[in-house]
Amino acid sequence: MLKEVNATRFITPLREGGSLPGLVEADDFGTYVLKFTGAGQGRKTLVAEVVCGELARRLGLRVPRLVTIGLDPVLGLGEPDEQVQELLRSSGGTNLGMDFLSGALGFDPLAFPVDPEEAGRIVWFDALVGNVDRSWRNPNLLRWRGGLWLIDHGATMIWHHNWPGAEASAARPYDASDHALAPFAPDLAAAAARLAPLVAEDLLAEVTAEIPDVWLAGEPGFDTPDELRRAYARPLLARAAVIHERITGIEGAK
Ligand SMILES: Nc1ncnc2c1ncn2[C@@H]1O[C@H](COP(=O)(O)OP(=O)(O)OP(=O)(O)O)[C@@H](O)[C@H]1O
Ligand SMILES: [Mg+2]
Repeated sequence: MLKEVNATRFITPLREGGSLPGLVEADDFGTYVLKFTGAGQGRKTLVAEVVCGELARRLGLRVPRLVTIGLDPVLGLGEPDEQVQELLRSSGGTNLGMDFLSGALGFDPLAFPVDPEEAGRIVWFDALVGNVDRSWRNPNLLRWRGGLWLIDHGATMIWHHNWPGAEASAARPYDASDHALAPFAPDLAAAAARLAPLVAEDLLAEVTAEIPDVWLAGEPGFDTPDELRRAYARPLLARAAVIHERITGIEGAK
C-alpha cells in the first residue's frame, strides 16, 4: 500500500500543469505535488498515475515516490484563487501525492543527451502503457540529481475509459514519432528483451494492489475493486509480449 499522509498546508498551485496540481506540506513534514481527486480529469487519472508510476519503478525507471494525501477541504478557505479553492473544496478525502523534487529541471533534449539503452527502456515503457504525454513539446521528464525522472502518467491506458472495448483498444500500436526520446536512437530490442519478461502476473498484481480502493469502487461492470485491478493487469500483460513489434515512428527500430 502507498504511504498515507495528510495535508497540513496548501503552499501554491503549480501553474504549469494542465490539471493544476498543487504543492502541499503534509503531517510527515514532507513536501508533495498533489494531484486532486476532484480535478476535471477525474480519479481515473490518479489510478493511471499509480499503475504506471509503480510499474515503471519496478522496471528500474526513476519515478518520484507516490503517496496518498488525505485532504480536509477547509485548507481551501484561505486560498485567494477561486479555481484552486474550488479544487480543494471538491477534493476532500484521498488524493495522490508525489515527492516534490526540489530544484529539478525540465528535460531539455538539446542540453541533456540520453543513451540509447535508457531511451529504449523509457520509450518501450511508454508504448506498453500507451502514454501520449511524453512528446518533445511536453516531455514530462525531469532532470534531478544527475538522472532522468518520469512524471505525469495520467494520460495513459486509454482503454480504461471504455472497459468493454479494452481488449481491442489495447491491441493498438504505439506511434513514437513525437516522443521526446525518439531522436536518441532508442534501443527497443534490448529494452523489450530485458523488460518484457518482468511484466508478469505477480508483478502486475503487486502494482495494482497499490491503487486505493476508493478510486476503484463503483466502476460499472465490476463488483469489487479487485476485479477491476485484474482488468488493469490484463491488457498490460498482453501488450508486454508484443508491443515492441508495434512501435512505429522510430527509425531503424525493430
Ligand atoms: N514531483 C515533482 N517534482 C518537481 N516538479 C514537479 C513534480 N511533478 C510535477 N512537477 C512540475 O509541475 C508540472 C506539472 O506537473 P504534471 O505534468 O504532473 O501536471 P499535469 O497537470 O498533468 O500537466 P500537463 O497535463 O500540463 O502535462 C511539471 O511539468 C513539472 O514542472
Ligand atoms: Mg505534465
